[in-house]
Amino acid sequence: MPALINPSILSADFANLERDLQAIAAADYVHVDVMDNHFVPNLTLGLPVVQRIAEVSPLPLDVHLMIEDADRCAPEYAAAGAASVTFHAEATQAPVRLARELRSRGVRAGIALRPASPVEPLLDLLPEFDMLLVMTVEPGFGGQSFIEGMLPKIRRARAALDASGGHTWIQVDGGVARDTIGRIAAAGANVFVAGSAVYGASDIAAEIAALRDLADAHA
Ligand code: DX5
Ligand code: ZN
Repeated sequence: MPALINPSILSADFANLERDLQAIAAADYVHVDVMDNHFVPNLTLGLPVVQRIAEVSPLPLDVHLMIEDADRCAPEYAAAGAASVTFHAEATQAPVRLARELRSRGVRAGIALRPASPVEPLLDLLPEFDMLLVMTVEPGFGGQSFIEGMLPKIRRARAALDASGGHTWIQVDGGVARDTIGRIAAAGANVFVAGSAVYGASDIAAEIAALRDLADAHA
């Protein structure tokens, strides 16, 4: 499967969101970071804004929930028009029940891990999820540097999926740029979130193409 590039609008201009959504039309999904100032020390946007983004976006929405009480809140983002909803393993009581609920609403269900959370307890459950998100920075802010120590975690998840014939996507979020994406793809990820690398580029479409080519070349 070719690499998917999902630019994060955390690095977009929130006063010009529609313009900045059009600017990434050549990407695969738009990555929407929802933060509640409790699960992470930052506050971004919530349901009404996600709903409007879904109405005007040229791309399907990949919503990354960095919120507490995901069990209660995540299904509302499916109803708001997301194509994919990812919640944190650390913020849910019943990840399988929640994933099944999301899938029953016709959206892809993703589960995310903070850098310090091990992947091993999830390996047998991966078929219940459409995507595993391996955070490669501490969630909360764009523009941080990639945590190299996460590469073995990605490799172990890929090995477990290959061994079981699973089709769960592996997404990486945090510090993805031209100088890191090759190593991340080689470790086994196939979905790449990039915020500052994409929106900080002088030619956004060219940056998306370059990231995709680098990922495909190293997969
Ligand atoms: C961080 C967010 C990321 C963020 C990545 O908590 O989940 O999606 O936008 O930003 P960069 O690509 O700049 O590391
Ligand atoms: Zn994110």
